[in-house]
Amino acid sequence: MALTPIPMVDLAARHLRLAAATEAAVLAVLRSGQWVGGPVVQAVEVRGAALFGRAHGLGVNSGTDALILALLALGVQPGDEVLVPALSFFATAGAVVRVGACPVVVDVLPDRPLMAPQAAQAAMGPRTRAAIPVHLFGMRCPDPQLPVPLIEDAAQAAGWAPPARLGVITAASFYPTKTLSAAGDAGLVATDDPQLAQSMRLLANHGGVPGQPHLHQRVAGHVGLNSRLDAVQAAVLGVHMGDLPRRVARRRAIAAAYDQALPAGCTALDRHSGDPIHHYILRSPRRDRLGAWLAERLVSTAVYYPRPLSAQPALQPQAPCPNAQRWCDESLSIPCHAELSDEQVERVCSALQEFRP
Ligand SMILES: Cc1ncc(COP(=O)(O)O)c(C=O)c1O
Repeated sequence: MALTPIPMVDLAARHLRLAAATEAAVLAVLRSGQWVGGPVVQAVEVRGAALFGRAHGLGVNSGTDALILALLALGVQPGDEVLVPALSFFATAGAVVRVGACPVVVDVLPDRPLMAPQAAQAAMGPRTRAAIPVHLFGMRCPDPQLPVPLIEDAAQAAGWAPPARLGVITAASFYPTKTLSAAGDAGLVATDDPQLAQSMRLLANHGGVPGQPHLHQRVAGHVGLNSRLDAVQAAVLGVHMGDLPRRVARRRAIAAAYDQALPAGCTALDRHSGDPIHHYILRSPRRDRLGAWLAERLVSTAVYYPRPLSAQPALQPQAPCPNAQRWCDESLSIPCHAELSDEQVERVCSALQEFRP
């Protein structure tokens, strides 16, 4: 029988498992007429905050907006500097630019794709106003021990046990490819600080003064925007939240199988047992050969990320980040999601074990 491709993500299969519950929840929202705000959004905000170990949660439009709202609520102003790690999706730095501030890109640890505390401390300057450590691939970023507020970018980290809770605000993404996703763009900000929670709630609603229609205030010096979590997306998210433990457990089991199947010269990430697995990443000096080998066997792969943020042309010139560059040259991601069958996992394991560079 002809082999079928093994994809990095399979959203149609994900939906199929939860189709009845998801479609019923979406239909209920549509029929209720409560399409903006309302009890479905509120319930997801409460559950979302708890997932990240925080007291207050606010559903927003996307993970990018979550970062922007966090920066605005902290009063970050044009000309301020914000530290970001060299390895992350572009949005971590892009959000800083969006609020008019300057991202200062900090190298990662030599053996883990996480902001290096010493490099972050060395990058502090008189204009540094905040830092955004990223829990990349679901790995806990160490506390960089900085004298400025931290926003933890937890876009890839739903499913922690226990939650990491780094800094004052958690910013999460529920983009469809995340372990916990909506059926489109969605995100969450969460915090223990009631004042920050209120500031982000106001900022996400044009700075509108509660109870006074068409009266708008600045919050932490900023004009607000519209960034709300749609009730339809909240309905999808609510169903998916119930499925999260299963997804995390399945991904961990698949990752454990891959760990045992890695060919000589490849190393697995040094994960903590409570970390969810957003991507399964391996490192190999023969990364490109291995990627081609797997492609011949119809196993999809991806590189997260092909270049460090320090080399992104959209940002101002940055100091080079050699640890991150090595990561970009050597790392490879292979399929690891709850929709993979045992047979597909075995095919990936065999392809890894048979690799001859
Ligand atoms: C680390 C990280 N930060 C921020 C984001 C932005 O999230 P979104 O795509 O929901 O705007 C993402 C998502 O892709 C991400 O992976």
